[in-house]
Amino acid sequence: MTAIANKTVWLTGASSGIGLALAHQLAEKGAKLILTSRRESQLEELRLSLPSPDAHSVLALDLSHPEKAKETASSALANKTVDILINNAGVSQRSLVVETELPVYRTLMEVDYFSVVALNQVVLPGMIERHNGHIVTVSSVAGKVGTKLRSGYSGAKFAVIGYMDCLRAEMAEHGVQCTTILPGFVHTQIAHNALTGDGSLRGKEDTDNAGGISPEQCASDIIQAIENNKAEVVSGKGMSKLAPLLQRFMPGLLRKMLANR
Ligand SMILES: NC(=O)c1ccc[n+]([C@@H]2O[C@H](COP(=O)([O-])OP(=O)(O)OC[C@H]3O[C@@H](n4cnc5c(N)ncnc54)[C@H](OP(=O)(O)O)[C@@H]3O)[C@@H](O)[C@H]2O)c1
Repeated sequence: MTAIANKTVWLTGASSGIGLALAHQLAEKGAKLILTSRRESQLEELRLSLPSPDAHSVLALDLSHPEKAKETASSALANKTVDILINNAGVSQRSLVVETELPVYRTLMEVDYFSVVALNQVVLPGMIERHNGHIVTVSSVAGKVGTKLRSGYSGAKFAVIGYMDCLRAEMAEHGVQCTTILPGFVHTQIAHNALTGDGSLRGKEDTDNAGGISPEQCASDIIQAIENNKAEVVSGKGMSKLAPLLQRFMPGLLRKMLANR
């Protein structure tokens, strides 16, 4: 069991949605947070709104440039011990394969895949040395099941699940826990912030996400998964929760359903 109280938790995507809910719930449990996203002023406002604001810090990073983010984080965190890293930041997509420009695929991979690899490289050496630590990565049900309009997002989220599986196998002998979270639909800004085929922001909600679980419910599922050292957890309801099971046991049926959606 991983206890949260008094742990230093580095949380990405803390300014919105699932990450914002996680920040509040982790702080309530006594975690000391390092809050990351691009928007420094939102993060500073969040820090001041949390219990024991002085226990928390802000580290603004643009994760669409993982090498630069790694360099900045490595020097900012040189004197800190990170117990838990939660790779939660992410960007989605709403565009057909035939209308999506190549740079959009690259941006999705940078934020949703390479930034995870890069930030893990910042904390893993210390965790291995201490024989203690926990890496948590928020993938998606879209990392198990590909659907229309999300080819780049799904590609990155599939990739990060494979990477986390390899990491878990390698870290077992080093005492570092690895948890992958697969949210289904969650009511956040994800669809609003999704990229379209030319890389511009979509700028409106989805009925799918609007009908999903609350970010608070998802955050609570993530914390439970951390506390119980789970390898992989699906957080959602309805079809978005069932889809990975259908993929495994009734793939033909699922393919027909997705083609007709
Ligand atoms: N909502 C869902 O239905 C759903 C389903 C499956 C998986 N997920 C995953 O859950 C995670 C959280 O998403 P959410 O639903 O909470 O979405 P959200 O409300 O759009 O929040 C996304 C977060 O990621 C940060 N972010 C985005 N691009 C970034 C960049 N280039 N550099 C640094 N930070 C960046 C944003 O902060 P700034 O804008 O301040 O940088 C924000 O804090 C993502 O990994 C997403 O793929 C969500």
